[in-house]
Parts: sequence; C-alpha cells; structure tokens
Amino acid sequence: MAGLRYKILNALAQTKGFVSGQQLAESCGVSRTAVWKHIQALRSAGYQIESTTNRGYRLVETETWHPQRLPEMVSGEVGSVVMRLQTTTSTNQVAKAAARQGAPHGTVVVADEQQGGRGRRGRTWSSPQGGIWVSIILRPRLLLQEVPLITLLAAVATCEAIREITQLPCKIKWPNDIVINGRKLAGILTELAAEQEAVEFCVVGIGINANVELSQLPSDLENTATTLLAECSGRIDRQLLLTAVCDGIDTWLHRVETSDWTDLLLAWRQLNATLNRRVIIYPAADDRLAFTGVAVDIDQYGALLVQKDDGAITRVTAGDVSIRNTGG
Ligand code: BTN
Repeated sequence: MAGLRYKILNALAQTKGFVSGQQLAESCGVSRTAVWKHIQALRSAGYQIESTTNRGYRLVETETWHPQRLPEMVSGEVGSVVMRLQTTTSTNQVAKAAARQGAPHGTVVVADEQQGGRGRRGRTWSSPQGGIWVSIILRPRLLLQEVPLITLLAAVATCEAIREITQLPCKIKWPNDIVINGRKLAGILTELAAEQEAVEFCVVGIGINANVELSQLPSDLENTATTLLAECSGRIDRQLLLTAVCDGIDTWLHRVETSDWTDLLLAWRQLNATLNRRVIIYPAADDRLAFTGVAVDIDQYGALLVQKDDGAITRVTAGDVSIRNTGG
C-alpha cells in the first residue's frame, strides 16, 4: 500500500501540471477511488496536493521534508521506524547506540544537519542543512564475509534512487561514491557489529548533497564535490528521494538474502564509473603504497581487481581510487 503512495507521488512530482485521476489509476493499476484515498493519506503526510474535478491532481509544494512520516511512504521494513533529529553529531553514532539498545531492522536515523558527520577513513563529512544525512540499521541474514557487499548494495540503491528521482545519469565510483561528471554527490559509510561468525547489525550511513548550495560545502571540496541543487534545475523532494533509497535497500536486501549476489553485482557493474579505467589506488593501510593500473572487475566479495602495469592482478578490498582522465 505504502509503495503505491510513493508511485502516485512520484507521478505527480514528475509532472509540472495536473494529472488526471484516471491516468494515475491506470499507471498504478488501481481504481480512482483508491487513488483518491492515497491522495488523502499523502495530504495528511504533509503534501499539498491541489485537486479540481476536471483536471485531476497537482502537487503544489516543490519540497516537503517530514522524514518522521517515512513509515507512511515506504513499502518494506527499511524506513518503517524513524528517529528524526534536527541536529546531531553523527547519525551513524546515534544509530549504533540505538542498535545496541535493540532498535529493529530497518530503523532509520535522519538528521537535518550534523555537527560531527563522519566519512570513510576517519575523514569528516560536511553536513549542512538541505542534505540527506541518514543512517539505516540493518540486521541482515548474511554471512560475515558477505557484509562488505552491503556497501555496494547501498551504493546501487542510492544511485538508482537518485537516477529515478532526478533523471541525473550519476554513477558509482568504487566502492561506494556516487558521482556525476567526476564529482562526488553522495557517500556511504558502513559500520558493523558482529559476534563470532554472525552479523549482529550493520549501520549504513548515507550522505547525499541534496538541496545544498555549493557555497555551503568546504572550499577544499570545490573541484571534487557537487550537489543535486547544482546539477538539477531546482530543489528536489528529499522525502521522495529518501523513500526511494529505503525501498531500494529493502528490495535488494530481500533479493540477496533469498537468492544470491549475481544480480546486485551486475547492477553495480552497469552503474559503475571505475571499471576499464586507468586508476591510482591508495590502499587503506598506507597512502605511500599507492600504485596505478587498470580496474578490470570486481570479484564476488566486492573487491576491486586491478591489473598493474606488469600484468599482475591485485585485489583491493579497501582504500581510495582516483580515476585518471587520460587512458593509456
Ligand atoms: C564517505 O566518506 O564517502 C562516506 C560519507 C558518509 C556520510 C554519512 S552522512 C550520514 C551518516 N552519518 C555520518 O556521520 N556519516 C554518514
């Protein structure tokens, strides 16, 4: 039911003017009465939707941000419990504490801004107002060695959601940066708690530079980062995007839990911006061990396979990748 609400909202958001009840009913495969009921539910979730007898429905607001209403929007477990914070240090920290206290699978911690946002490799993550700063608690039924793949799964779900909502042809830079024209739009930080061979929980922290002005980002990111606001013609509906991210993670997680990782790795490969490119690898342990080569593939555990200039293939499990502009 909730997924239908999202479908209707997305159809309205994609259209500037009115969409008839009949059109909505046909595209969603439900009756006009059902459409009307979902429109009522969306209104009570904070959306301003105008309706006229002859023309149908029109979304009035360009952005609605009521993340606490996420449970009414999502289709599955991810996002069915929400902790909404105006400001915090880091949503990953809050989510880890909540998970230790027993917060259920799918709980989402979302903040309007973070004062101590954390990135990969101990970096800080600038998190001003307007972005999507979210951490998702997952209790996946997976083997410990499969867990690194959760990061790739989150990257696929985030990239697909941004593409769906904004139509921007963004891509994934290994392992999990979402980029457009070589600039970073979003990043993912996954943290794990395990006991013996079992995963207790993992926290997937996702930061999307959504309705953020470029001038709100630190000046040292000027040439490497971008925002949806800078790339799209207007502000995007963060609630819709967050719903799409949650639904994407939920769907992919069910697929890998009940089948295997083949489709997910295929989707990652299709969306990637790293394979077949000449790259410089900065291994996690030590930047001084940097080396160049061609990124040839990822393996079944999500590690990047890089062919060095002497022909040897090296398996990279953690670190940073810099994509060279020129081939050869
Ligand atoms: C990266 O370095 O690319 C990962 C960035 C992850 C940022 C997100 S924002 C929400 C969550 N809370 C944090 O402190 N970090 C993650």
